[in-house]
Amino acid sequence: MLRFELVLFFLCISTTLGEVLKFIPRLTWPPDFCNKLDCPKYQVLEKNKDYELRLYESSGWMSSNTAGIDYKEASYTNFRRLFRYINGTNEKAEKIAMTAPVLIMVQPGPGPACENNFTMSFFMSPKVANPPAPTEKGVFPQKMPQMKVYVRSFSGYVISINTWLEEAKKLEEAISAKEAGKFHTEFFFTAGYNSPFQIFNRHNEIWFIAK
Ligand SMILES: *[C@@H]1O[C@H](CO)[C@@H](O)[C@H](O)[C@H]1NC(C)=O
Ligand SMILES: *[C@@H]1O[C@H](CO)[C@@H](O)[C@H](O)[C@H]1NC(C)=O
Repeated sequence: MLRFELVLFFLCISTTLGEVLKFIPRLTWPPDFCNKLDCPKYQVLEKNKDYELRLYESSGWMSSNTAGIDYKEASYTNFRRLFRYINGTNEKAEKIAMTAPVLIMVQPGPGPACENNFTMSFFMSPKVANPPAPTEKGVFPQKMPQMKVYVRSFSGYVISINTWLEEAKKLEEAISAKEAGKFHTEFFFTAGYNSPFQIFNRHNEIWFIAK
């Protein structure tokens, strides 16, 4: 009889512990998908099968904008400029460590055949106290305020803008079902965490910003 009660007791303790642990915020930083690179800090506010709602701290970024050409060409142009910036094309001729994610703000054109506007951004780690001013043409610093972000994660190698658009549509529908009108729909972000040379275990995200 006593033994039975003991088993019950431990069962209760372990399920309660499990329930409690679920609500303790993630203690390990950075998350695995940051691949040991510096990435912007966030807290998870809510999680369901379709998305995660994160609260990001305010952060600094270096950005480059290209409108009017296709996704691949725009990404190539923006990435080359930002890479040159971190590789020393800046006022202090300073090399800056690569961070994650590489964000692309996509402002879709007004129709399927219309041109999109792409702004790519590299995260400026708080470890770099004052990012040097860019001398690379087309590169500019940006501040992002503290913000709530709806995030959909998926894996695989994304080679086409259509994959991003499909994933964005899925996320937009999932948020709309619960939080219609509470987020910006005129633009979204893609977040890539892996170098183009990594083929497997890739982590990608779509971000919609809460209003
Ligand atoms: C990065 O900078 C070094 C000089 O510090 C240069 O030799 C190299 O070509 C640059 N890499 C790229 C890809 O621009
Ligand atoms: C593209 O987006 C940037 C950043 O939001 C904006 O400043 C620029 O005017 C836009 N360009 C076009 C052609 O829409």
